[in-house]
Amino acid sequence: MSEQTTLVLIKPDAVQRGLMGEIIARFERKGLQIVGLKMLQAPEDVVGQHYAEHKEKPFYPAILSFITSSPLVALAVRGNEAVAVVRNLMGSTDGRKAAPGTIRGDLGCSMGANLVHGSDSLESAERELALWFPQGTLTWDSAAKPWLDA
Ligand code: RTP
Ligand code: MG
Repeated sequence: MSEQTTLVLIKPDAVQRGLMGEIIARFERKGLQIVGLKMLQAPEDVVGQHYAEHKEKPFYPAILSFITSSPLVALAVRGNEAVAVVRNLMGSTDGRKAAPGTIRGDLGCSMGANLVHGSDSLESAERELALWFPQGTLTWDSAAKPWLDA
C-alpha cells in the first residue's frame, strides 16, 4: 500500500454538462477517497502557476480562457497509488483518442474541453494541492470512520 493524495480538477465543460457526479462516482467506485472538494472560479494567477510548464506554449491562452470560463471543482483524491490510478481512470489527453472505459474516452471528444485534470506525478500532486488547497484547508481525516462508532 502506497497511499498518495493527488489533485483533480473537474473542468468547466464537465461542470456545465452536469457530469460532476458521474466523474466523482468513478473515483469513489474505484476505491479512492475524496478528502477535499470545492467549487470555484479559477483565479488567473493560480492557473498560471498550475500550468507553469505550458505557460510559454502557443495553446496556453486557450487553456487559460477555457479553464477560467466558468466554475470548476477542485478535488483532493486519496488512495493506493492515487496519482497513477487517477491518470489511468482519466485516459489520454485528447478525448477523440482516449480509450473507451476512461473518463475522457467515454464522455468527450475534445483536446481542450477534456473534462478533467489529474496531477501527472507525486511531485506535481504536492505542488498542485498546495496551490488549490492552501495550507490548513485540507483537514478531513480519511482514517476517521465515525459511522462505525454509532
Ligand atoms: P491536464 O494537465 O489538463 O490534466 O492534461 P494532460 O496532463 O493530459 O495534458 P498536458 O500535456 O498537461 O496539457 C494540458 C492541457 O493543455 C491542452 N493541450 N493542448 N493544442 C495542444 O497541442 C495541446 N496540448 C495540450 C489540453 O487541454 C490539456 O488538458
Ligand atoms: Mg498535465
